[in-house]
Formats: sequence, C-alpha cells, structure tokens
Amino acid sequence: MADASLVVHLDDAIGTISPLLYGHFIEHLGRCVDEGIWVGEDSPIPNVGGIRTRTVEALKAIAAPVIRWPGGCFADDYHWQDGVGPRDRRPRRVNLWWGNEDDNAFGTHEFVRFCRLVGAEPYICANVGSGTPAEAKAWLEYCNYDGDSHYARLRREHGGAEPFDVKWWGIGNENWGCGGHFEPEEYAAAYRRFATYLRQLGKRCRFVACGHTTRDWNLRFLQGLRGRWDLIDHLSIHRYVQAGHETDFTDAEFYAVLSECIRLDDDLRQARGTLDVTVGGAKPIGVIVDEWGVWHPQARAAGGHVQENTLRDALAAATVLDLFNNWCDLVTMANLAQTVNVLQSVIRTEGEAFWLTATYYVFDLYRPHMGNTGVRTVAESDVVDAKRPDGSTHDLPLLSASASADAKGRRAVVSLVNRSLDADLECCIRLDGGSAQSGSARRLWAESASAHNSAQRPDAVAPVEGDCAASGSEWTEPLPAHSVTVLQVNLT
Ligand code: AHR
Repeated sequence: MADASLVVHLDDAIGTISPLLYGHFIEHLGRCVDEGIWVGEDSPIPNVGGIRTRTVEALKAIAAPVIRWPGGCFADDYHWQDGVGPRDRRPRRVNLWWGNEDDNAFGTHEFVRFCRLVGAEPYICANVGSGTPAEAKAWLEYCNYDGDSHYARLRREHGGAEPFDVKWWGIGNENWGCGGHFEPEEYAAAYRRFATYLRQLGKRCRFVACGHTTRDWNLRFLQGLRGRWDLIDHLSIHRYVQAGHETDFTDAEFYAVLSECIRLDDDLRQARGTLDVTVGGAKPIGVIVDEWGVWHPQARAAGGHVQENTLRDALAAATVLDLFNNWCDLVTMANLAQTVNVLQSVIRTEGEAFWLTATYYVFDLYRPHMGNTGVRTVAESDVVDAKRPDGSTHDLPLLSASASADAKGRRAVVSLVNRSLDADLECCIRLDGGSAQSGSARRLWAESASAHNSAQRPDAVAPVEGDCAASGSEWTEPLPAHSVTVLQVNLT
C-alpha cells in the first residue's frame, strides 16, 4: 500500500469541459463501418434502416457527442458524390489505403442518419489530397444549403428534405502524410484556397486544419496562412501510442504505454505555444485531437486493424481523458480511433456477436464530467521509471486525476487512475473551496491488467458501483492497483 494525495481546487476553474472531448471517429477501414455500423437493411442483425441497432444504443448510452467520418487516410481519396443517390447505382471503388473495395453503401445520408440516431454531431473530413475546392464546396452546399441550388435539390431528391446542418468540417487529414505529402507551406496555400470557398458558404461552420505533433509543421503552416485567421477555427493533431503485445505485455510495457500517453501533454503545450507566437490574441483557435488511442502492433491491415482491448488500454484512455479535462481551455474536441472493431474501439462485433470493450467503460465512467467546469487539481504520488519505446525514460506518476464541478456547484466529479501495476493506493482527497456531504463511486478493475472482454466473456472488465467515503473537506479513498475510479461527490 502506498500513499497518494489529490487537492481539488473547486474555485480554480480551468474552463468548460466540452462534451466534444468525448468524441469518436469512424473510417472505411476493416469492419468499422461495414459490419460494425452498417449491416444493410436486409441483414438478420437487428438494424434501423441498415444501421446496427446495438451500436447506436451503446453510443447513445455514453452520450457520444460527435463522430468524425469518412477518415482518416480514406478521406483524401473519398469523393462524396459516389456515396449519395440510389444505393444500387453507387460505384464500387478501390479503398486505396485499407486494401479492399468499397461499395459506397454508407455515404453522407447514412452517416448523418447514424449521427442523428446516436444524438451526435457529424464531423466531416473533406478531401484535399486528391480533391478540389469545388468538390468540397459542393459537399457543404449539398449538406447545408437551404435554397434552390442544384446540390440542395439533389439532397432533397435523395431524401434529405431538411439541410443536414453539418457544422464541423475538417480540411484534409494528415496532409503531411497520406493526405498528399504536402510541405507545410504547400498545405497552407491549399488550405487558404479550400477554406476561402467553404467559409463563404459556411459562415456558421467550424473549419479544422491539419496540424501535427511537431512544432515545425504547425509553425510553418500557421505562418503560411499569412494572417488569414478568419479561415481557421481549430487545429487538429493526432497521437497514437504503442508498447508491446496487445495482451501479452511485460510490466515495463504496461508502464511504457501509459507513459507514451503523457506525450499528449507535451503535444498540447507545443500546440498552444505555437498558436501563441503565430495567431496570438487575434483569435482563439482550439486544438482538436481528432485521432488518438493505443495502436497495438497486432492491428494490421490484413486483419482489418482489429486489436484486443485490455484493462491496460482502459487505463491509457482514462489517462488521456484526464489530460483533456485538464487542458479543457485549449482542447475543443477529441475523437478516439476508431469506434467499432478498429484500433482502440469501444465496441466489438463478430457477425451477430456484440460486446463492449474495457475502453467503452472508461467513457461510461467519465460521462459525468461532460459539460462541467474543469477545476485545477494537484496530485502527488510515487513515480515509476518508465522506459519508452524510443529508449528515453520518463517519471510516470502513479496517480492520474482530473476534477470538475457542475454549473450549480452542487456536485463535484473526481476521476482517479491508479497506474501502478501492483500497488494499491490510499489516496487522501482534499477539497479546497468546498465540503462533501456524501458521494458514490464507480470503478473499473480486474485481477489482471491484461483482462479484456470477448464474445465469450463480455463482462471480464466491467464497472462496479462502490462506496465513497466523501465527507467534509478531506477523506481517504482506497484505489486498487491498475484501476480507474470516478467519484461523484455531493457538496454541502
Ligand atoms: O486511424 C487509422 C489511420 O491512422 C488513419 O486513417 C490516419 O489518419 C492515421 O494515420
């Protein structure tokens, strides 16, 4: 048993924890869209107009706030007109990046319908790499225009009587890589062109530029915008982490994955600093982490990038969500990659079988933070010397935490991750600026950090309700080794 402490400064607000920080990402990759979401109207698998019912229900249950589509790398080779109109007339295309063909059965209408069923905002990534500003503008017009134009009429002909009102638009994806291998200055020039025509039509839309975890790309891209801050609303970055086998990992690899997640802290600091020296006070530009997660070496193209999802991955997700909560004055959206059957998915399917992953339950546990005010915390715990895959070492604190308070100041939410593989923690929690009346706890834990759910054992990792000792301004919570705990504390 080791000691840890957390001071929650209830009066020291960071900002609002936008529900969009708990967003998701789907791509035409492996069995994410096909099977995971789209089963077709004639499928024996229960569906609503072709969309898998249990996937919708599961995402609704965690209040999934936003879904990004169609990629990923797929986006910069996607031509939206292939995916609208009668399904039997849609062309079959080569899926350039993910090694199969796409029948375009799941296009814009199906995506928007899926989002509406879930209750999530649609976030569309437009094609810059192999597309044109005219194509992107036509897509926005098709989705959002309410007048009598060609594309608005086409949408109506295809069953979309009302505009889809898609607010979130990405202008390309990873344009430093699969999205066209641009130099930052070249992408800045392309971005200016695309955004000029999109902004003119989408005054109320939010446009997201492709950023990077390197300062060099962000700096050169932002300088290349030549002060046209009216064209950009958000800068996106991606962060994937990896260390060892998906289930058969060593103790060192357990810590290495968690330590890799902390790189996001540096990524966000870098992004903020680079925005400060370029945009400065001219306009608030949010950072969107529109792809993140653990990407195990077992997730390969041949297997559709499917991977197991252990309690270690859940701890990684909780670590990242704590980071987002603690950076909620900068991070405006985040999207875990990828919702079903691909990478760190929250849902798995095998034909008719359906189960939820350990990571799903982290989103379930953290839900009470959504929309709250993030408040500053000071966590103290022992550190472990984590060796990262690149050979560097990092002092990984055993305790990860974040806290928030509801609008009326009646309830605080405290999330606590014990990242020790084998030591339970006794965590002293002190509320600064408030006092607790009572509380409740939900916990994700299993005997082994490699425990994971499967069709045969769908509840190997599932949350349990527990007691919370919250009383007065200070109390102690036991945190079992490799566990995630979320407390809801009623304030006096
Ligand atoms: O999520 C899988 C791929 O990872 C995405 O298509 C791409 O954007 C990233 O490199």
